[in-house]
Amino acid sequence: MAYSDFSRSIKIAPSILSADFANFGAEIRAIESQGADWVHVDVMDGHFVPNLTFGPPAVKAFRPHVGTVMDVHLMIAPVDPYIDAFAEAGADILTAHVEAGAHIHRTLQAIRGAGMKAGVALNPGTPAAAVEHLLDLCDLVCVMTVNPGFGGQKFIDMTAKIRALRAMIGDRPVHIEIDGGVTPETAPLVAAAGADVLVAGSAVFKGGSVADPAPYGANIAAIRAAAAAAL
Ligand code: DX5
Ligand code: ZN
Repeated sequence: MAYSDFSRSIKIAPSILSADFANFGAEIRAIESQGADWVHVDVMDGHFVPNLTFGPPAVKAFRPHVGTVMDVHLMIAPVDPYIDAFAEAGADILTAHVEAGAHIHRTLQAIRGAGMKAGVALNPGTPAAAVEHLLDLCDLVCVMTVNPGFGGQKFIDMTAKIRALRAMIGDRPVHIEIDGGVTPETAPLVAAAGADVLVAGSAVFKGGSVADPAPYGANIAAIRAAAAAAL
């Protein structure tokens, strides 16, 4: 499968930033077998954010293991020189930060032009209005609920921003994705405010492993149930 039709139903997107880095293929298969809707891939450059992860060749190696949707979150600057490489790597959705350069409008056009769904991410300090003129050029708005760079950080309440975006988006087929500190405790807040894609790293991978993946399933189910209960 790849990205198919737009839907606002709740989707859980485990971030493989919290996976075993020596075992990505098996980890991706494990989270999908345990109910993940999308696979969230965090690309960091040690410049836009103070951490380094992996680049296009690694993302390309993940691709055959992903049976759902490969959701690639770029925390890099600049973005434009790498768009074709991530298309070639097989990203279904490619998200760039609005803070990553002066020409986000051009970046989103280029992402769609390369055949991918386009996402735009906002750091906690960036207002919703920063994407107001981009909503017809993107398929997803990612609201960061931590300062990007690391898994396992404390959730920052961005509920008011999510509500503002939901109103701004109106009937457009644009997802609202939440990234950072999502747990069964915080999921209801963001779902009630209008988010439909919940990224979760530490809250999905805690307690499980490739050898014992059932906790991944229980963690995904707990986040999903908590979000659903708020709707
Ligand atoms: C943060 C990343 C997130 C991160 C989320 O910079 O973009 O995707 O992995 O991790 P948790 O769910 O542990 O906050
Ligand atoms: Zn992310």
